[in-house]
Amino acid sequence: MEIQNRPIGVFDSGVGGISVLKEAIKLLPNENFIYYGDSKNAPYGTKDVNEVKSLSFSVTDELIDRGIKALVVACNTATSAAIIDLRKRYKIPIVGIEPALKPAVLLGRKGKILIMATPMTLSEKKFYNLMKKYEDVAEILPMPCPGLVELIENGIFSGEKISSYLKEKLSPYIEYGIAAIVLGCTHYPFVKKEIGIIAKNVPIIDGSRGTAKQLKKKLTLIHLLNSSGKMGYVELHNSLEGNKMLDISSKLLNIEL
Ligand code: DGL
Repeated sequence: MEIQNRPIGVFDSGVGGISVLKEAIKLLPNENFIYYGDSKNAPYGTKDVNEVKSLSFSVTDELIDRGIKALVVACNTATSAAIIDLRKRYKIPIVGIEPALKPAVLLGRKGKILIMATPMTLSEKKFYNLMKKYEDVAEILPMPCPGLVELIENGIFSGEKISSYLKEKLSPYIEYGIAAIVLGCTHYPFVKKEIGIIAKNVPIIDGSRGTAKQLKKKLTLIHLLNSSGKMGYVELHNSLEGNKMLDISSKLLNIEL
């Protein structure tokens, strides 16, 4: 098969990266995608950095074996822990994701910008450097959300458990005025509606569209866009055996965000 017509690999610690996959399909309808959710090892965000690196290598090896032409690391945590090493180790184009702080700053709204993400994303150097870039022009508040990924991995996107978790996290800041909320974990767009109910009228931003745009830009630049002219296909895979995660994955792929 011509290299341009090979699939693009997309991976995450679980089902979260489907929020990125959805945007990538919208922007690149002729591309074929192989999505790999590593739910067996989720969550990544509370693990050790070296463990996340090695898990990212294993998943990438698996996708390379399936013949991918490019890779999207649709996980903020794996991007912050492993993107440099992934790029050193594999010769294919690799696109990562990071908390969409820039668009939040550009809104120019008063108040704190809350960055909801996993503990690892917020404690890694990549985020420190990103925050340094904007700390003079914006009030940035990193908000680690351990436990939220687990709820979403269990197919819980609304209801009492989610709303009480989010209320506890967000309520102390609401009365002081929040400029924006950045969803710095690809699982969180699936609970965006619930966040919106608590943080009324606050813009909620995530990096999935930006990552998909970056992917398109990269593939265009290196002449690697699919040239078949046909609608692409999507394959869903998960490291957990059985149908549960695949069922949740297809449900998430088809819901409107
Ligand atoms: N979706 C991953 C992210 O973007 C979640 C990481 C985790 O498994 O903790 O950070």
